[in-house]
Amino acid sequence: MLNIGVLASGGGTNLQALIDSQGGVIKSGKIVCVCSNSSTAYALERAKKAGIATRVIRKNADCGGDMDEFSRRICDYMHEMHVDLIVLAGFMAIFGGKLLEDYANKIINIHPSLIPSFCGDGMYGLKVHEAALDYGVKVTGATVHFVNEITDGGKIILQKAVCVKDGDTPESLQKRVMQEAEWEILPRAVELVCSGQIE
Ligand code: GAR
Repeated sequence: MLNIGVLASGGGTNLQALIDSQGGVIKSGKIVCVCSNSSTAYALERAKKAGIATRVIRKNADCGGDMDEFSRRICDYMHEMHVDLIVLAGFMAIFGGKLLEDYANKIINIHPSLIPSFCGDGMYGLKVHEAALDYGVKVTGATVHFVNEITDGGKIILQKAVCVKDGDTPESLQKRVMQEAEWEILPRAVELVCSGQIE
């Protein structure tokens, strides 16, 4: 059984999908903590309701805006909680340094498009769906991938396609991509990694 640490910044619907999959799709891992860079993230409430330990580490307020310090403090918390696998579930902050080194090939991320489309620096949340609609693609989706030093550039684990519909707004498309793709492939990818089927 691997210990999973989740990093989340916002509403935490992907975190909820992971919590709800424990003992079901996720058989080989257990969420031991949730860390957020925002004290108001609803993800923290979801964790508390599920009895999961939480910690807030803010880049500016707690680390003086220093990215290395921010990364080190998250890394220290992950070690303190004996985390084996880190899952970024809507984590909207950039980190690097010690966290990427200590957890090389042990961090995965969910991104709301079919990588390599609509990804990279500055592409997160609703912006991804705005870009997909602006381009006029008819199919989009979600991707779970390993995290390395290139934004959204690590090896792909799972992808699922979702159709764009006439009249979609960024919000309606975001909701469909979450419901039809993200909440399904993130738990599946976590299990693939925790069970050692993908390294
Ligand atoms: C999700 O759509 C996730 O794919 C996206 O943010 C949203 C978080 O929602 N992540 C990124 O854009 C990362 N580049 P949630 O807080 O409800 O899980």
